[in-house]
Amino acid sequence: MESLQSPRGFHDIFGEKNERIKKISLALRTKLIERNFQEIILPIVEYAELFQRGVGQLTDIVQKEMFTFSDSKQRLLALRPEGTASAVRAYLQHKLYTKPWVKLFYEGPMFRHERPQLGRYRQFHQLGAEVFGISEPYIDAQLIEILWLLAKELNLEFRLEINSVGCKVCRPDYKLALIEYLHSVKDSLCQDCLKRMDKNPLRVLDCKVQTCQEATKEAPFAINYLCSDCKTHQDGLESALDSLGIDYVINPRLVRGLDYYTRSVFEFVSLKSSLTLMAGGRYDYLVEELGGPKTPAVGFAVGLERLAEELSFEVKEDELILVIAFGDVLDYALKVYKHLCAPNRRVDLIFKPPKKGLEIANKVGARFVALVGQEEKSGSFFTLKDLQTGFQERIELYSLKETKTE
Ligand code: HAM
Repeated sequence: MESLQSPRGFHDIFGEKNERIKKISLALRTKLIERNFQEIILPIVEYAELFQRGVGQLTDIVQKEMFTFSDSKQRLLALRPEGTASAVRAYLQHKLYTKPWVKLFYEGPMFRHERPQLGRYRQFHQLGAEVFGISEPYIDAQLIEILWLLAKELNLEFRLEINSVGCKVCRPDYKLALIEYLHSVKDSLCQDCLKRMDKNPLRVLDCKVQTCQEATKEAPFAINYLCSDCKTHQDGLESALDSLGIDYVINPRLVRGLDYYTRSVFEFVSLKSSLTLMAGGRYDYLVEELGGPKTPAVGFAVGLERLAEELSFEVKEDELILVIAFGDVLDYALKVYKHLCAPNRRVDLIFKPPKKGLEIANKVGARFVALVGQEEKSGSFFTLKDLQTGFQERIELYSLKETKTE
């Protein structure tokens, strides 16, 4: 049979990478729980319309990256490309807006039909957080601080970029100014930018094509067109970040690839790979646009694979104790195995003659072996051997609970 491979852009995550992801996830979850966030497990499949309306018809995600399929009633479903729209849907569906504020986090796979490359997959994992019901900039700063603390704890080399993309009051004027400018340099823009410059002109600022970047050097930027409320918000965010001791740069080109953002947007960019590792922003209209009451909201998502690929720490596994059972000792070996299983230990069991068993123990990197044969069974003990030091001792079964292996 021809060997089967996972589909392009879909990966198995195991071993070292899995350990790193678990470590990152635990560190971030701990911070969120300590700050009164609650986990929500969101479905992986939603009606495609949620993302069309939520993320935006003109975004790359909706136009070309969604995995969609129809159910038996011909309703279009989508594998979720991100978590924010789903969190808003859940917030509305369960009438969570009756609470003064809501802080949620979620973790799981997201799906985007992008061209796969290092750090860009078709299935990837995010840990995201969303806050509903708080409009003041201190909460934007607190979310950024959580990511800042995580980045420091993980020893990431990064740059924090922030920007403001304005609101319904100031953005229309800004957009007109930008479109006018883009028309004046349109001969230098790439085909994609020519297509989006009238409908979604902000995305042109984000284009990675060199000629587009050059052509938009002198473009008007949203942060210079803010209305007084947006300006007050931005000033509030900057002073909150200053007082928290967080270094940031203002990147006036930062617009993000999703349409729901208003006011603050931010990205933690890797100095090693230049990839965006963690990102988010405010989306004060989305709840209303999806049919709910006017509700300010802000959040972020962390790309777990991208973070894991940045890290260089060694993941120390718990030491393995391999129980090697030989002869007619099945029940007794299971008893020894059960007694050895304990927190922060890995225990495994094989049925092999001692010589073969020891060879296997070396192959799988066991630190200790527990030999269990007929003699051990009759005497109610087992022989524990430290493979690093060669030290060997006889351990009576009744004293197992007190047994220390380190
Ligand atoms: P996003 O920037 O599209 O934002 O994704 C957040 C993070 O997910 C990225 O910074 C990156 O680390 C990771 N990521 C995105 N696409 C891929 C991919 N194809 N392969 C691997 N990693 C990827 C959002 O999704 C927003 N929902 C964030 C947010 C939450 N804004 C407000 N609340």
